[in-house]
Amino acid sequence: MKIGILGTGLIGFPLGLRLLENNYTVIAYNRTFEKLLPLQKAGIEVFNQPQEVIEKADILILMLTNYSAIIEVLELNTNDYNLTNKTVIQMGTIAPDESKKIAQEVIKKGGEYLEAPVLGSIPEVKNGTLLVMVGSTENQFKKYYNLLQNFSPEPQLIGEIGTASALKLALNQLISSLTTGFSLSLALIEKEGVNVEKFMNILRQSALYAPTFDKKLKRMLEGDFTNPNFPTKHLLKDTELFLNQAQTLGLNTDSLEGIKKVIEKAIELGLENEDYSAIYQAIIS
Ligand SMILES: NC(=O)c1ccc[n+]([C@@H]2O[C@H](COP(=O)([O-])OP(=O)(O)OC[C@H]3O[C@@H](n4cnc5c(N)ncnc54)[C@H](OP(=O)(O)O)[C@@H]3O)[C@@H](O)[C@H]2O)c1
Repeated sequence: MKIGILGTGLIGFPLGLRLLENNYTVIAYNRTFEKLLPLQKAGIEVFNQPQEVIEKADILILMLTNYSAIIEVLELNTNDYNLTNKTVIQMGTIAPDESKKIAQEVIKKGGEYLEAPVLGSIPEVKNGTLLVMVGSTENQFKKYYNLLQNFSPEPQLIGEIGTASALKLALNQLISSLTTGFSLSLALIEKEGVNVEKFMNILRQSALYAPTFDKKLKRMLEGDFTNPNFPTKHLLKDTELFLNQAQTLGLNTDSLEGIKKVIEKAIELGLENEDYSAIYQAIIS
């Protein structure tokens, strides 16, 4: 069984290495060829044309930025492509409706499709502790469980295609909201000259505390957003995906609209490729 990784960015890269370490035959495509070179060195066959990976692999793992990149790479808007006997496992963060559309196209071309978006980042990929949420049939879930266990001790079946993507967006909405909420309180604490450790001590003992606050505190205080696991631009993408989906459902999204403006400001400050805790910089600037 040959696994093809399509997209070896921040997450696809360690994902490929993890499968290789676990004795799978892995091949990989990436648009920017340079990112493939360390994988080639490690023993992965690499290609800068997706077609070669699509033809050679049995299972295609997608770790691409967004819906349009998936359509482009799988050539889903052309009629002349065949995915017979191929299984596409979509692991990036996209909207539920987008995932359903991709599923339809993959099935039309003879392939099988499941979604398996993840919570966690590069360290969790490396040690196999991602939270993997699966949208598929029960049979598909059973069939691919062992493969997905390379990334998570306990992949979870959420429901049919779309449900896992929706759950993932719900979690990422919390990343935006919690980070912005914490940044604003921390900024007030600093500007008022309150001792930050005293603030954190009280917060840690309260029901308001979330572990992400401590994870991001140092970066925020030091203004160091370099070497991101999850860049600001992707948090903006996911916030926009959530907003679109929530508005379709008639939910009040006023709070998230405000948060989106703060993330956009971080991007205006040139922090799009930095860690998303750069939201703090947008709040104090
Ligand atoms: N980073 C995280 O912690 C994290 C966690 C959970 C989920 N995710 C999600 O997982 C997905 C990948 O994230 P990432 O952090 O690995 O992103 P990334 O480092 O930006 O990688 C994105 C990948 O998509 C490729 N790509 C984008 N547009 C393309 C196009 N039009 N044609 C061909 N390839 C294209 C990029 O190729 P190039 O290298 O040529 O640009 C790269 O391989 C995203 O949906 C993200 O939201 C990320």
